[in-house]
Amino acid sequence: MANVRVSVLISGRGSNLAALLAAEREGRLGGKVTAVISNRADAAGLAIARAQRVVTTVVPHATFRAREAFDAALEEAVAASAPDLIVLAGFMRVLGPAFVRRYAGRMLNIHPSLLPAYAGLHTHRRALADGVRIHGCTVHFVTDDLDHGPIVAQGAVPVLASDDEASLAARVLAVEHRLLPAAVRAFCEGRLVIAGRAVRVKAETVSKGALEVPILSA
Ligand code: GRF
Repeated sequence: MANVRVSVLISGRGSNLAALLAAEREGRLGGKVTAVISNRADAAGLAIARAQRVVTTVVPHATFRAREAFDAALEEAVAASAPDLIVLAGFMRVLGPAFVRRYAGRMLNIHPSLLPAYAGLHTHRRALADGVRIHGCTVHFVTDDLDHGPIVAQGAVPVLASDDEASLAARVLAVEHRLLPAAVRAFCEGRLVIAGRAVRVKAETVSKGALEVPILSA
């Protein structure tokens, strides 16, 4: 797929968005971030997008009385950006079923745990409370089953005895920043094949440098 248009949905900080934009600048994204859409006007990631002259749109969820009305407005904003791929990069709203169906197979999410463990919120806190020794992040296709769509890639990190929530989150985030652009590139190169609940990742024809993070799913 040439000239893949990528719309990124964010709610906050935008460090994963920054990683995608850096990959694009360096010619290793395989597509172009053409829109950034946020459900919060105060999302710091909006400034990151604007700094790279990416069109931004805010659909402020708090101003909508009904969830359906927000869903419809978001869907309209996303459709206006004509995406080939949608990336949820720290987007903190659950998408409506019609939206999810419309973009089935064309929407990726980054989640800060090794799914299917720790779906939902506060993943690092829960992992520490359970005393797990390995934690990480997952890029997956979005389906109606929240945080349980077909897994594209995973990166693992050790959990250290000295860790608190912040230190573990930071270690995972560094891996997210490598994993997400690599997963987007694989999508843009047409290398992701959904097979039931799983994803087969076809090999690169020309290697653009091996991923240093352990990709447990490939
Ligand atoms: C990341 O940890 C991501 O996995 C989760 O939300 C966080 C977003 O961080 N879904 P950022 O906005 O990309 O910095």
